[in-house]
Amino acid sequence: MPGKSELEGQLAVVAGFADPRAELEQYPTPPELAATVIHTADLNGDIQDRTIVDLGTGTGMLALGAALRSPHRVIGVDIDRSPLQTAIQNEHRVGATAPIHWVQADVTAGGLSTETPTVVVMNPPFGAQYSNRHADREFLTVSADIADVSYSIHNEGSEEFVTEFAADRAGTITHAFAAEFSVSNQFSFHTSETEQIQSEVFRIEWMWCIDIYHFIPIIPPERPHFD
Ligand SMILES: C[S@@+](CC[C@H](N)C(=O)[O-])C[C@H]1O[C@@H](n2cnc3c(N)ncnc32)[C@H](O)[C@@H]1O
Repeated sequence: MPGKSELEGQLAVVAGFADPRAELEQYPTPPELAATVIHTADLNGDIQDRTIVDLGTGTGMLALGAALRSPHRVIGVDIDRSPLQTAIQNEHRVGATAPIHWVQADVTAGGLSTETPTVVVMNPPFGAQYSNRHADREFLTVSADIADVSYSIHNEGSEEFVTEFAADRAGTITHAFAAEFSVSNQFSFHTSETEQIQSEVFRIEWMWCIDIYHFIPIIPPERPHFD
């Protein structure tokens, strides 16, 4: 398996958002962090022959990182068409050969499904700027529904929330690590040239427990006794 540094170098050519939208939290995942997540996933056996779904793929950084290894196929989903067009150009830039499907869809609208085994990789909107803390909750919900395993990047201080969320959905956090990255000043609320973002990355194994609820028979009301 090629090393993490090699992957980071391959991802260095990925172009970022041409016209980033603050309300969608369109800041790029840096190549170093993407390479760390994808290389870790590959070492854990979570890339090879798997269907990889990048929720909120933006310009495709995580999806392309996965495509540079040996997945079955890769699906990048984003609500905004513009970064997906950049993602298509990025696909040609990095020269990944694995099949990639770029899908314009609202992740939170429901209806996403894939075959198994599926691994979700994602750097979802955090909700940090809009008093919408844990906007990542809906992305985690989709991960729990479609993935066997997910790798997700959250803002600092999310451990308690992610742990409780996973426990509620019969998920198990197997790996967690902190990662700092910088994004260049691209929104009016950024006060310096670069913003340092403290993040936390989680690997979660999801149990396919949701469907059993559909099979639990409704307990009939107690029948009256006639003696
Ligand atoms: C932090 S960025 C991820 C960036 C991406 N990993 C990259 O490096 O380009 C979050 C992404 O989620 C997308 N997004 C936000 N809300 C969404 C939704 N409801 N459904 C799908 N994508 C959404 C944004 O358009 C943005 O591209």
